[in-house]
Amino acid sequence: MRTQVGIVGAGPAGLMLSHLLHLEGIESIVLEARSREYIEGRVRAGVLEQTTADLMAEAGLGERLKREGLLHHGIYLSFHGTRHPINLTELTGGRSITVYAQHEVIKDLVQARIEAGGQIYFDVEDVSIHDFETDHPKIRFRKDGRPEEIDCDFIGACDGFHGICRPSIPAGVLTAFERHYPFGWLGILAEAAPSSEELVYTYHERGFALFSMRSPTVTRLYLQCAPDEDLAQWPDDRVWTEMMTRFRTTDGWEPNQGPVIQKGVTDMRSFVIEPMQYGRLFLAGDAAHIVPPTGAKGLNLAIADVAILARGMAQFFKSGRRELLDRYSETCLRRIWKVQRFSWWMTSMLHRFASDNDFDQRRQLAELDYVTSSRAAMTSLAENYVGLPL
Ligand code: FAD
Ligand code: PHB
Repeated sequence: MRTQVGIVGAGPAGLMLSHLLHLEGIESIVLEARSREYIEGRVRAGVLEQTTADLMAEAGLGERLKREGLLHHGIYLSFHGTRHPINLTELTGGRSITVYAQHEVIKDLVQARIEAGGQIYFDVEDVSIHDFETDHPKIRFRKDGRPEEIDCDFIGACDGFHGICRPSIPAGVLTAFERHYPFGWLGILAEAAPSSEELVYTYHERGFALFSMRSPTVTRLYLQCAPDEDLAQWPDDRVWTEMMTRFRTTDGWEPNQGPVIQKGVTDMRSFVIEPMQYGRLFLAGDAAHIVPPTGAKGLNLAIADVAILARGMAQFFKSGRRELLDRYSETCLRRIWKVQRFSWWMTSMLHRFASDNDFDQRRQLAELDYVTSSRAAMTSLAENYVGLPL
């Protein structure tokens, strides 16, 4: 098989890259280890920055997002039993966020690719990448047990944190920057109408909790937990008791309860590799970096990377010029490090660290008090939360 860009991974990064390339008249093939049903049902992130929602609309993917996405103009930071509003829209000159589940983004992208005759191979096995330091990279894989090979001009490494592309780069090329957090998030989806219009980020002495939603009938909640928390120890009753303890405010606000339809634990880390390119291999999204979910940035960063990568590839295929491609990693990393800083900062401000002493707790509360009372501090949070410019 021959194509211009071979893409490994049909997550947000790989599918969006394929779609943006198609809009530029560039052919690609996407290889995905999982089935279409699996990736279209995988519960993950839910908040789209204004920057991401704008990109989706510009790319012709805005119709269902506009209809079904929940537009939000603020968030709450809650501590000491009180919710403090941060008015994102007012603080950023009219920008906002949209709650729209990651798997809905995936469904829209898969449908757009298939309608345009795009090639996505699901359920592929034994994917390996070759010769990407030359002008003729190759991807080998098995489909239905048969060996296949793709010849291409570039490889898009969009295969997530546990993919095969990053480890295929020779030792010594990449530098990794990493921080682990000594906690995870236990997340649930519940069939219950959201009881707050806006997301609520809660600092509580028993640990962080986050109130979010997916639709007018589905609430999404998270609790800070141990990184290796055993879900078997968390029957629904215990989850609800802990949620209510952390969320309930002195004015009587608390989440509505309902049947739990999904439950999982996510570990938390910050991770960046530099550079994000090697020869004709370009890494994008979680293959190159991970953020803790407190800033709601993982999916948004993946989309931002491929918007920059698609521009570089378009320049190359139109004119043979490589300036944008050569600067891909540098361009992305400037923004990525700012988003890393924001995600680390939100995480540090809102979670309980076992190593913290009373001083640290007083400092965290002072920071929350500052952020919710100083317009300068709120504005900084708001402009990062709605998404820095590309
Ligand atoms: P992915 O979405 O991981 O896509 C990579 C794709 O590559 C996958 O479909 C995978 O199956 C495929 N793949 C992997 N290896 C191969 C291979 N060898 N061959 C072919 N295909 C392969 N972010 C938030 O902002 N908020 C959240 O609440 C949140 N929750 C999360 C929960 C979980 C469990 C996880 C894992 C992530 C979460 N994230 C969250 C992060 C966010 O979902 C990711 O940042 C986002 O999915 C990144 O997109 P991506 O396309 O780079 O990678
Ligand atoms: C979510 O709705 O899943 C969500 C919202 C905000 C975050 C992380 C996750 O910071």
